[in-house]
Amino acid sequence: MKNRNIPIAGPWVTEREINYTKEAAANGWYENCSYWNNKFENAFSKYVGSKYSISLPHCTSGIHLSLEAFDINQGDEVIIPDITWIATAAPLKYVGAQPVFADVNLDTWCICHDSIEKLITPKTKAIIPVDLYGSMPNYSEINKIASKYNLKIFEDAAEGFGSEQNQKMAGKFGDTGVFSFHGSKTITTGEGGMLITDDEKIYERILFLRDHGRIPGDTLFENSEVAFKYKMSHLQAAFGLGQIERAEELVEKKIKIYKWYKDRLGNNELIVLNHESNNTKNSFWMTTIIFSDKLNLNKKELIYKLSQEGINTRPFFNPLSSLPAYKNSKEAKKASLRNLNALSLSSRGLNLPSALCLEEEDIDYVCQKLLKILSQYTLN
Ligand SMILES: Cc1ncc(COP(=O)(O)O)c(C=O)c1O
Repeated sequence: MKNRNIPIAGPWVTEREINYTKEAAANGWYENCSYWNNKFENAFSKYVGSKYSISLPHCTSGIHLSLEAFDINQGDEVIIPDITWIATAAPLKYVGAQPVFADVNLDTWCICHDSIEKLITPKTKAIIPVDLYGSMPNYSEINKIASKYNLKIFEDAAEGFGSEQNQKMAGKFGDTGVFSFHGSKTITTGEGGMLITDDEKIYERILFLRDHGRIPGDTLFENSEVAFKYKMSHLQAAFGLGQIERAEELVEKKIKIYKWYKDRLGNNELIVLNHESNNTKNSFWMTTIIFSDKLNLNKKELIYKLSQEGINTRPFFNPLSSLPAYKNSKEAKKASLRNLNALSLSSRGLNLPSALCLEEEDIDYVCQKLLKILSQYTLN
């Protein structure tokens, strides 16, 4: 039998991306130096339906710039879900703001709006909801809370590319929306990110902040503020243009992978797969399982056993409040006692291989091995 090595995540690249990148390497200089970024940004805006898109070196810079553009500062509080990648929270430290960790819903795995409202104080300035693994929180409720308390929303759609709620694309539910094009994501530029907004003033402010405090077009090098350098190279933008032009087939493939899993695991009472609700199209960046708390099973052991079969998986994110990185934070201590859904999901959750190169036969293999391993465990 051949040795299997089934990847967890990875891109689908065609001649289109390769040719655009070659072309950019050969000719994207001198008077053409903005050509590929403009093309990529325009195509992105068209796909998500935003007025403005700004290509960036990564999504983390998009979160940082959102905080800067809305003057979120030292001592301000920003509510984020306890379950997410640390990149949602890290930029708060860059500006001196305090992350406040809200619990997530058991079904969507995304930030719970009831939990948000309980955490609001006079210092709260913004919410950063996250479209976890392609799922989406209830944005109409989050918007009501934001309006009631005059809070900004920065939508972290790093994992939500191609998802929709009430026919509106992920990324469009906040004052800004940010995406990641890391190599593991549904569309990639190797590393990279995009910030979208419909607000012209914010768009202009972010263009200024991300180029060392220069007004676009400035040729006199007269910086009026000390700011940041967050630009995407034109080589990456050319690659990204090829990917965004193929957005529909990339998202469809993710959905297909999920459906292959659902056909094989969907009826198993010991497993719950990603949520599908009526008003949300989930683009399933990562097909994920939560195994039953009735199973006498340790998540790390399951990851190890699958790896012995050549199957790469990832743990469901740990609650941020439980991470060593936040061990000195009083807020994290309180959150780790209060966010019971986050704790419960995290202890039983696993991302299954969801790379765009996978075929049905690979998913078949993963499911057979997974079910066999699960059958060796007893019920509590
Ligand atoms: C939820 C979430 N937010 C933010 C990021 C940061 O993206 P980047 O690595 O492009 O900065 C990621 C990336 O994995 C993510 O999953």
